[in-house]
Amino acid sequence: MSSPLWITDPHLNFVSDGRRSELLQEIHDWSPSAVLIGGDIAEATSFDRYLREFATELDCPICFVLGNHDYYHGTIPQVRQSARQLMQEWPQLRWLPESGPVPLSDGSLLVGHGGWGDARAGDFDTSTILLNDYLAIQDLRSAQLEELLNREANSDPRSVLNDWLRERLRQLGDDAATSLRSQVSNALAQAESVTVLMHVPPFREACWYAGKTSDDNWAPHFVCQAAGVVLRELMSAAPDQHMTVLCGHCHGEGTVDILPNLRVLTGAAEYGAPAIQTLWPDVT
Ligand SMILES: [Fe+2]
Ligand SMILES: [Fe+2]
Repeated sequence: MSSPLWITDPHLNFVSDGRRSELLQEIHDWSPSAVLIGGDIAEATSFDRYLREFATELDCPICFVLGNHDYYHGTIPQVRQSARQLMQEWPQLRWLPESGPVPLSDGSLLVGHGGWGDARAGDFDTSTILLNDYLAIQDLRSAQLEELLNREANSDPRSVLNDWLRERLRQLGDDAATSLRSQVSNALAQAESVTVLMHVPPFREACWYAGKTSDDNWAPHFVCQAAGVVLRELMSAAPDQHMTVLCGHCHGEGTVDILPNLRVLTGAAEYGAPAIQTLWPDVT
C-alpha cells in the first residue's frame, strides 16, 4: 500500500523550472496515497499557480496549509480566499483549515492549520528579530514601521516590535488554536490517531535550527504557542489515542515527544532545493 508523502517549505519561487520538474518526477516515482505540503509553498502571487501545477501533474489528494511566506506581497484575507478558490476549482486540492479531515493510508485522520509565530514563546519585548513578514505582509506592516522606514537611518529594529504587532500576532495564533481545537476534537471522535499538518511549530521544543532549539530572541517569531497549549491539552485527555504533528518554518530537522502520545516531527528545508521528507511516522 502506498504511503503519504510530506514536503515542507519548498519555497518554489526560488526553485528552477528544472528542479521543480525533478521534484514532481520524484513524487510520481513515490506513488503516494496523498501529498502533504506544510506551507511556505511560494508567495501570495504565485503559491496558487504552483498548486495548480501539482494538481495537473498528480492524481492523489494534495493537502496543504499556508506558511508565512505564502502571504508575502499580499494580505491574509486575500491569500486565504485564493486557497478557498483553489479547493472549488480542484477537488483534489485540500486546504486543511477548511477542507474537513482527510483519511490517510496509515489509518490516521489528517487535519491542519499553518499556525503563526504568536509572540508568546521566548521574549518578544527584547527580541531583535525583524522578520520580513512585518514588511511584506500588508496586515502586519504597522504605521510605526512605515514611519521608521521613511526615516531609514538610526532606526532600531526592536522598536517596530510594538504592542500593536504583538496583539496582531497573538490573534493569529489564537485563530489557529481555535481552528485546531475544533478540527482535532472532531478527528479524535472518529479515529484512533490524528496527524496534524502545520507550518509553524506548536512547541518551542520542536523549533529546530542547526541542531538546537530556538532561543528567546527567535522563539517569539517561530513558535505558535497557543496551538501547542490546545494540542497538549487534547492529547493529555486522550491517553489511548495518538497524535503526530508535522511542521516546518524553522528549516531544521528534529523529532520530539511532547507526551507519550504526542510526537512532533519538524522538517528540514533549504532554499532552492525542495525535498521529500524521509521522516514519516509508523509507515514503511
Ligand atoms: Fe520556510
Ligand atoms: Fe515559514
